[in-house]
Amino acid sequence: STPNTPAPTGTDFTVVAPNKEDAVVIPEGYEQAVVIRWGDAVLPDAPPFDFDNQTPQAQEKQFGFNNDFAGLLPVEGQPNTYLLVVNHEYTTEPFMFKNYDADNPTLQQFQVAITAHGLSVVQVKGAADSGKLTPEFGPHNRRITANTEFVLTGPAAGSEFVKTSADPTGTKVIGTFANCSGGVTPWGTVLSGEENFNGYFGNPEAVTDPKAAERLKRYAFVDGKTEHLWERFDKRFDLAQEPNEANRFGYVVEVNPWDAASTPIKHSALGRVKHEAANIYVTSDGTVVAYTGDDEKFDYMYKFVSSRKMQPGTGQASMRYNVTLLDAGTLYVAKFTGNEPDKIDGSGKAPEGGFTGKGEWIPILRTGEDGKGESLVEGMSADEVAVFTRFAGDKVGATKMDRPEDFEPNPKTGKVYAALTNNDKRGTDGKAAVDEANPRNTNKNGQVIEIVEDTADHSTNRFTWSLLLVCGDPKAADTYYAGFDKSKVSPISCPDNVAFDPHGNLWISTDGNALKSNDGLFSVVLDGPNRGETKQFLTVPHGGETCGPIITESRVMVCVQHPGELDDASADKPVSHWPDGGDSQPRPSVVAVWKSGGGRIGV
Ligand code: FEO
Ligand code: CA
Ligand code: CA
Ligand code: CA
Repeated sequence: STPNTPAPTGTDFTVVAPNKEDAVVIPEGYEQAVVIRWGDAVLPDAPPFDFDNQTPQAQEKQFGFNNDFAGLLPVEGQPNTYLLVVNHEYTTEPFMFKNYDADNPTLQQFQVAITAHGLSVVQVKGAADSGKLTPEFGPHNRRITANTEFVLTGPAAGSEFVKTSADPTGTKVIGTFANCSGGVTPWGTVLSGEENFNGYFGNPEAVTDPKAAERLKRYAFVDGKTEHLWERFDKRFDLAQEPNEANRFGYVVEVNPWDAASTPIKHSALGRVKHEAANIYVTSDGTVVAYTGDDEKFDYMYKFVSSRKMQPGTGQASMRYNVTLLDAGTLYVAKFTGNEPDKIDGSGKAPEGGFTGKGEWIPILRTGEDGKGESLVEGMSADEVAVFTRFAGDKVGATKMDRPEDFEPNPKTGKVYAALTNNDKRGTDGKAAVDEANPRNTNKNGQVIEIVEDTADHSTNRFTWSLLLVCGDPKAADTYYAGFDKSKVSPISCPDNVAFDPHGNLWISTDGNALKSNDGLFSVVLDGPNRGETKQFLTVPHGGETCGPIITESRVMVCVQHPGELDDASADKPVSHWPDGGDSQPRPSVVAVWKSGGGRIGV
């Protein structure tokens, strides 16, 4: 059994028990406040939020819907002032509009939805005597929406796959959507993953070319009309009319939040998949390594290693150079090998010594300094690998994972962590069987993998790995908390986002808790005798998802996405009234949590 060692620095707080409250529940001795919510002003001329009278003109100046990723960037020379950069992943129209008719949305509702997507950049100011943050109208405040112009870079740019009637150059893309998680780069920009873009494009069955149809199928496009019916209002969302428009989404997006006039970038050198996010590690010689997962059942994990070196400093010249770092280098896909494959039977029971093994990064695409690609996969061209990256992973025998979500290096140790959120199809209907990195059939609770590159130089193509957590009910035989005493952990299920506190502890937020209580945020100890100790720090309102965690010395922040989103709920019968209370509509919001009277988080 585990000795009763004191909680390591940063994880000393009273755990929050599983619950179904319509509230953000935090540990004793902590306080909380909403920072910004759907509809709050981002730009100075934004009208006040009016649930019953929404317009696209208002929404494009207001905070968008369904906040997922959040990044907090200190403003140089202005103490206690930050840029908060947030993704707005998707819209839930039945929650946004009273009497919403899903079969007949109005043009106005379509336009509000378009402008409720994308990202927000908002200056926030910290209070003198608490962790509270208040939005301000700073010079960098900005809304990026599904109408904002982007530049497409890398091997896909200008290729036959991305040319449309509106953009014969194949370089000028309008909009971003399905922006799930992301990362802050060491050079001061924000990366954002375009994830479930397939759901925005209707009528894939109208594409009859067999190769094009096969590609749509591999990317999970669904025949017929879409849920949001955008194809009814703008032909670019109708594959029957614009078969290439969908090939312009599914990239890692980079936004320079310090220049509100800058054109955001879509980097095709990192491939086109359902990118959950992208997170950066910088090696000692300035090489930049980006880790990114493809969030689909049985899809792959990737890394990109730059050929250019990061320039120090935050001046404009450095920024102009550094935003090209992800445009030249090599893209790899991961293959995992277990060391005790005969002991993995799908029951999820850990072999002696846990689940461990070796791995290999298989190169699939090299992008030169001139932006031109070189395919490293037989039978595929470079632009094919950049746009239909999943086929490259298929061809080289990459390992089919249980939905790779956030994939992020620990700045303290260089070890890399990925959340594999769940995969209820593992081992069913002729689908891939278990392997040591994905050890459970019909996996409802997910796992967390730890990757150690073979050398401190992350550009190596070999690594070792182990499962840190096999999530789910700690009382069940098929769960594993890195060998820590399971009677002393908080139950965790469906890990999604990962983050690190200043002490090097891992924090995990969850999406879709299969244990039937609210989603939450957990600290996990990585080193020493408490490795695997998992503690719930907060829970979000019922029906919501916990996203975008930020853990600093003095503050924890989370995005509460889709509060009250339950099967039988709508704007006419909301089941959540968070955060405004009374009989109000639920509103996705960003929340800050701090210790009463000040002090360090978890200390
Ligand atoms: Fe949008 Fe993979 O979660
Ligand atoms: Ca996610
Ligand atoms: Ca993260
Ligand atoms: Ca998720």
